[in-house]
Order: sequence, then structure tokens, then C-alpha cells
Amino acid sequence: MDDEMMRRPNRRKLLILISVVFFTWLLYWNRSGLTSDSEDSWIVEGHGQSRIVPRKCVVPEWNTKNTNSIPHAAEFGHWRRQYLGGHNDMLDAESRLLSAFVYPDQISIVTTAFHTYTKEVTCLYFDCNQREIPKSRYKSYVMPLTVVSCARRAGAEFVSLKWNEDDDEEIIEDPIPLINRVYEQPAHELSVCVGPLYGDESKWLEIIEYVEHYRLMGTTMFYFTIFNMNEYDRRIIDDYERMGLAESTKYIMEYVKLGWMFHLIQTHECHYRSRFHSKWVINMDIDERLVYNGPNNFIHFMRSIPPSFSEISIASNRVLKFEDFPAKFKNEQQLLKDMTFLKYNQTTETSWYNLKGIIRPEKVALLFYHWSVRQLDDTKIMSVPKRFAYIRHYRSVDENKLNSNWRTFYNGGLTETRLEENFEKRLSSAVMKRVKYVYDRRMIRCEEIAPATFKRFERRLLDCAFKNESQILY
Ligand SMILES: *[C@@H]1O[C@H](CO)[C@@H](O)[C@H](O)[C@H]1NC(C)=O
Ligand SMILES: *[C@@H]1O[C@H](CO)[C@@H](O)[C@H](O)[C@H]1NC(C)=O
Repeated sequence: MDDEMMRRPNRRKLLILISVVFFTWLLYWNRSGLTSDSEDSWIVEGHGQSRIVPRKCVVPEWNTKNTNSIPHAAEFGHWRRQYLGGHNDMLDAESRLLSAFVYPDQISIVTTAFHTYTKEVTCLYFDCNQREIPKSRYKSYVMPLTVVSCARRAGAEFVSLKWNEDDDEEIIEDPIPLINRVYEQPAHELSVCVGPLYGDESKWLEIIEYVEHYRLMGTTMFYFTIFNMNEYDRRIIDDYERMGLAESTKYIMEYVKLGWMFHLIQTHECHYRSRFHSKWVINMDIDERLVYNGPNNFIHFMRSIPPSFSEISIASNRVLKFEDFPAKFKNEQQLLKDMTFLKYNQTTETSWYNLKGIIRPEKVALLFYHWSVRQLDDTKIMSVPKRFAYIRHYRSVDENKLNSNWRTFYNGGLTETRLEENFEKRLSSAVMKRVKYVYDRRMIRCEEIAPATFKRFERRLLDCAFKNESQILY
């Protein structure tokens, strides 16, 4: 009995000791966990001040590649000495970083000033914390137009440029992120580089007619470039981006307005944006619509093009457009009257004078507006017979628009033409659907607000309109 009585407290002591050891260990384990955690977080409290501790960069497998050169360096070097594709315009423009892309075999940075063409420049690489990666700089030059191509660097997530290698005082522009184009297979089979959107004419309906037209032809991605645009027009681009159908490049430049003089930057930016992302890219302005009359459908035709071709050329005609697009959506009847492809049919002869190209971006070396001037890997250009495909160019006859005096140089005849009936029907209902989804909007009706809410906040805070009131829409 006594023995038993003696053992119990001993056992208790042992139990307490074990518990203390266990909890001490647990506490220590927890704290060591905390310390290593905090090294991964953003802010560490110090004595009266905090400092930002950078997080560790996680570098995915595809971004662990280093290269020592850029592909086709000899060819580009040769064209650079010839000053091929040089464009001396906008002489004082700031060279800004517009966008940057990482491909399987190189990085390319698109800048904004023509006058840097062929200049030497150094590529700078930054990690996820925007810290320059030590000993990573790469010497390159501007070619083509405003594009700088650089070697790849493992872990690079941001890039910038240094124009004067020896100038330690040079202020480096804030780095911009690399957009991932490391695709083994292109994500899209057929896409569209949409010409620059600028000027005062309303664009929302033109954009919808354009996108829905090319969607019916099998395209799945639209690369937009936004120069100047009002909020109403901008909404449709946001909607196409929401649907995964579009990407857009916004130009932040020192100029208040950008116009057609920056068109070449747009074609180059889109060329580099679409490389490895899209197999084929249709290079068309917002008023140009491709029409295919050949066998099967257009995607089928594109699939039949042998890999030895990097561009197909298409002839165009012009359809006379007499009025501007409407500023706002009113109603369905008005919309049917406003649709360009239903409204205009006076057509010029189709000619090779204004040809447009569909390109394989990674096989094209140099572009001039809508067609290529140099191709890579000995690829060639194919012209598509007019009876298979042509471009309807809905061309304004307004004297105040760019090149609007074109009719004085045209001495051919005019005929009445329109889209194929079934296509036209599908197009007008697709346009109607999109317009109504995005632009057929109304105010909140005061009647639909719960009486309690209405009473509590009062009308002036509720921004609503009664059914019996006329509505001012924005
Ligand atoms: C062309 O448009 C005019 C005027 O809108 C119309 O009268 C004519 O029938 C149209 N022609 C064709 C072939 O659709
Ligand atoms: C519209 O209806 C609301 C509520 O039914 C009423 O308070 C308001 O006076 C009416 N307004 C007009 C202009 O008739």
C-alpha cells in the first residue's frame, strides 16, 4: 500500500517533466518555424522602425534558361548595317518601355521612339523583387524599328534598358514585366492584329462588327492597341478581354494625342506580342474585313498552307462609306440601319495595289505596316487568288480623313457587292447580341429598390430613376 502511495507522485512528476520537455520543444519548433516564415514575408518590425524583407523568388521550370546570343543575330546585324526599315520620324520622342516578352529562345522589349533605331543598348534583367540580377547584363541594339532583343536569363521577371553603358549617372527607366510567350505550341491558331484606334470618330460599333466578323472566320484572339479612346468605346474592348478574346496594349507616351504616325509601332508591337502565342496573325485595320470564297472554310485553307510559307498576301477593294459611326446605341432598329456591312455596297475593283498580309509571326523578320519585307528560315510569301479571298475595306469618303482623296486617283468602276447572305445574317445577329449585352443598359429603377433601403438613404443618394421619368444614360 505504502509503496503504491509513494509511486503515484513520482509518476506525476515524471509526467510533468515529460510535458514540460515536450511543450518546450514544441514552442522552440514553432518559433524556429516563425523565424523562417518571417524571412519570407514583407515587413519585419525592428526597434522603432520596420524594414521590408524581400520575399524569395520562386522561379518556375520554364524560366530557368540562360542563353548567350539571340537567334538570327547575323541576319539582323546585316540588315542593321543596311539601315533596313529605318524610320526617322518624331525626332525628340522619349524612348519609353512599351512592352516586353519572353520567348523560348530570346527576350524582346518594344520601345516607343523611332530615332533609337540601330543604336546600341544594354538589356537589364530583374528578379521578382525588381532587383537587378547580378552579372546578367546583355549588350544588344535596336532592331527592327523600336524593338530590342536580348538573351534569356534564368529568373528574370522584369527588364529595362540602359542606353549609355559607361554613364553611371544614367537614370534607368522603371523595369516592366516580361509577358510569358514560352509556348511549345501556339495558344491560338488564327488571331488578328487590330490596327491602331485613334481619332474622334466613334468606334464601339466598328469594333464589334470587326471582331464578330473575324470570329465567324475562326479567329480566337484579337490584339488591340489603344491610342485614344473614350470610355464608351473602351467598354467593348474590356468586354472582349473579359471573354478571353482580346489583349490590349495601352500607350502611355508624352504626347496628348497619338495618330497614324505611330502605326508602325503598333504593327511591330503586335508582331512581337503575337510571336509564339498565335500561329497565324491577320494584320488588318479596323475598317478592313477579310472575305473567303474558296473551298471549305478559311481555317481549313490556312491549315493547308505548307510550313515553307511565312506570309500570305491578299488583294483588297474599297467599299465607299459615307457617314460616321453612331456615337451611342439607341435601339435595335437603328442599329440595323447603322451596321456598315448592311448599309454600304458601292465597291471598287479588287486590286493588288493595297495588299494586306497574314503572317506567321516567328518566321517574319521585318514588317512594313501590313506586310513583311524580310522573312526567316528561307520561308516565302504566297499570294492568294482574288477569287479565293479578298479584303473589303470600308473606306470613308470624308475629305478630312487620312488619304480621303483616294477617289481622285481611282478611275475604275463601282459595282454593288455585299457579304454572302448566310454570313451576313449570322454576322448581324452576332453584332446585335454583343451590342445589347454591353450597351443596352438602363438606370436602376427606384421601384426596384426595397422600400426600407429607399427610405433609409433617400433618393438623392440612390441614383435611381422612376419608370415614369426619362432616363439620362451615360
Ligand atoms: C445597294 O444599296 C442600295 C442602296 O442602299 C440598294 O438599293 C441596292 O439594292 C443594294 N444592292 C445590293 C446588291 O444589295
Ligand atoms: C413618377 O412616379 C413617382 C413614384 O410613383 C412619383 O413620385 C413622381 O412624382 C412621378 N414623376 C413624374 C414626373 O410623373
